[in-house]
Amino acid sequence: VKGKGNLRDGLSRLLTEVSQGYLQPDMGGESIPTAEGELSDLAGDEPLFKALYQWFLDSGGVYKLAFGPKAFIVVSDPVVVRHLLKENAGNYDKGVLAEILEPIMGKGLIPADLETWKPRRRAIVPAFHRAWLGAMVAMFNACTRESAAKLDRLIAAAGDGEAVVDMEEEFLNLGLDIIGLGVFNYDFRSITRESPVIKAVYGVLKEAEHRSTFYIPYWNLPLASVLVPRQRRFRADLAVINACLDGLIAAAKRTRQATDEEALQARDYTKVRDPSLLRFLVDMRDADLDDRQLRDDLMTMLIAGHETTAAVLTWTLFALMQQPEVERKLLAELDAEVGDEAVTLDHIARLPYLRATLAESLRLYPQPPILIRRALGDDVLPPGLRGAPGGYPIGKGADLFISVWNLHRSPYLWRDPDAFRPERFSEAHANADFGGAWAGYRPEAQGASLYPNEVASDFAFIPFGGGMRKCVGDQFALTEAAVALVLLLRRYTFRLEGGPERVGMATGATIHTANGLRVRVAARAAPAGQPAVPAAAETPALATAS
Ligand code: HEM
Repeated sequence: VKGKGNLRDGLSRLLTEVSQGYLQPDMGGESIPTAEGELSDLAGDEPLFKALYQWFLDSGGVYKLAFGPKAFIVVSDPVVVRHLLKENAGNYDKGVLAEILEPIMGKGLIPADLETWKPRRRAIVPAFHRAWLGAMVAMFNACTRESAAKLDRLIAAAGDGEAVVDMEEEFLNLGLDIIGLGVFNYDFRSITRESPVIKAVYGVLKEAEHRSTFYIPYWNLPLASVLVPRQRRFRADLAVINACLDGLIAAAKRTRQATDEEALQARDYTKVRDPSLLRFLVDMRDADLDDRQLRDDLMTMLIAGHETTAAVLTWTLFALMQQPEVERKLLAELDAEVGDEAVTLDHIARLPYLRATLAESLRLYPQPPILIRRALGDDVLPPGLRGAPGGYPIGKGADLFISVWNLHRSPYLWRDPDAFRPERFSEAHANADFGGAWAGYRPEAQGASLYPNEVASDFAFIPFGGGMRKCVGDQFALTEAAVALVLLLRRYTFRLEGGPERVGMATGATIHTANGLRVRVAARAAPAGQPAVPAAAETPALATAS
C-alpha cells in the first residue's frame, strides 16, 4: 500500500505506527499477495475493516498489507483461520494487542502469554458452570427491569407517551451493572446513578480504546505518564478501579472457605448469597490467590464482558428497527412463549428465532471485528479456499489480523452476505465451488450448542473466536442479551430517530456507533389474549456488595 494519508481511523494508525511491524524475510515457497492500494484509502470516514474488506475481494483470503518495511498479514479464510485458532494455536500469541492492553489488564486472560494463560484458563473455565449461569439469569432479569424502570420514567417525563433515548448508552449501563454483579458481586448501579468508580471504568475503557487507536505510543516515553494530563487521569482512574478490586479481593479472601471444585459447582445457587466468579475463584481448594493475577483477571473480564455485550444489544436493536418482517416474527415467538414471568433458560431453549437473531447480529457486527495474533515461530499457512495451492510460509514475529468482519461477510461463504436474515442459520448452504478443506456450514453439526458456532460453520462463523483461546463468557453474554431483548422488546416499541446513516460506525475494541443510537421509545400494548407485558417495578432484591 503506497502513499500518504491523514489517517483518521484508529486501527489504521495501529497498523502503521504502534506496532513494530514485521519484516517478512524471503522464506521461499509461494509469496503472499500484496494488497494494492493507497494509504489514503484508509483515511476516509470509513472504519479500517471496511478497507480490509475491499482488499479481501481484490486480493483473496490471505494478503499482505505493507507500509514501508512493515507488513501485516490479513486473513479472511476459514481454513487458514482454523489453522491459526485451533490446529496450530500454540504457535501464536496476542502480539500487538497484549502490548496495548498490558498497562490495563496486565497478564489477564485475554492478553496473557501462553505460559501465564494455561493455568489461569484451567482455573477460570470451571467457574462458568451451568448452575452459576442459572443464578445469573435471575440477575439479568432484575437488571433489565431496572433499565425498564428508567425508560418508564423517561417516557413519563416526556409527557407525550414517548421519549427519545440513546439506547447504546442504556445498553452500556446495563452491561456494566450486569458484569459487576456477575464477576465480583459489586453493584455499580450505573443505570440509576453516577459514581467515581463508574466514571473511572468509562475513563479506563476510553483510554484502552485511545491506546489502540492513537498513532504515537507516547505513554511509553519516560515521564510521559506524569507530564501528560490524560495520562495522569488514566493513572488516577486505574487507581480508583484497582482500589475497588483490591478491596473486593481482600474481602473475598478474608471470608474464604476452601472447597472442592465439584462441591462448588453443586451448590444450590438459589441460596448462595454471593454467586460471583470472584467467590468461586477464591474458594476453589487449590486456588492461585496471587492478588495481582486475580486483579488482572477481574479487570479483563470487566472490560471483555461489558462493551461487547452492550454492542451486541445495540446492533441487534439497530438491525431490528429496519427489518419489520424479522421484528414481527420475533415478537410473535416471544409473545407465544413468554408470559409476564421472569425469563428463564427454559424459555430461551424454546426461542430459536431469538437465538438466530442474536447470531445474525453477531455475524454482521462481530465484536471485536478483528482478532490479532503474532507468530512465535515459523509456520506454513495451509492452502485456503482462495489461497495458493502450496500454502504460504510465514516467519517468526509475523503480525496477523484475522478479519472476522470479512469472514462473516464473505461472498464465498454466505448467500446475500450483507442481508440481515436470521433464517440463514437453519439452512445448509455450503458453497460447493469452494469445498476443498472446508466442511461448509452444517446446522446439524451445532450439536448440544443452542447457538450457531464455529463448529457448525467450520470456522466461517467465529463470533467468540475458536480453539483454545475461545471466549469463556459466550453463554453468559448470549443469555444476558437474550433476557434483555425478551423483556425490552415485549414491553416497548423502538423506532429509529433519523435515518440509519445518522447512527454511523466507529471502531475501537468493539464496533460502536459514531453518534449514539437515538431511538423513540414508547410503551407497547399487550398483544390480544396475552398477559400484560411485565411491569418494571417487580425487581427482586439482590444481595450485593455495593
Ligand atoms: C475472549 C468475544 C463476552 C471474557 C474472546 C474472544 C472473542 C470474544 C472473539 C477471542 C479473542 C481472541 O481469540 O483473540 C466476545 C463477545 C462477547 C463476549 C462477542 C459478548 C457478546 C464476554 C464475557 C466475558 C468474556 C461476558 C466474561 C465474563 C473473555 C475472556 C476471553 C475472551 C476472559 C479470553 C479467553 C482466553 O484467551 O482464554 N471473547 N466475548 N467475554 N472473552 Fe469474550
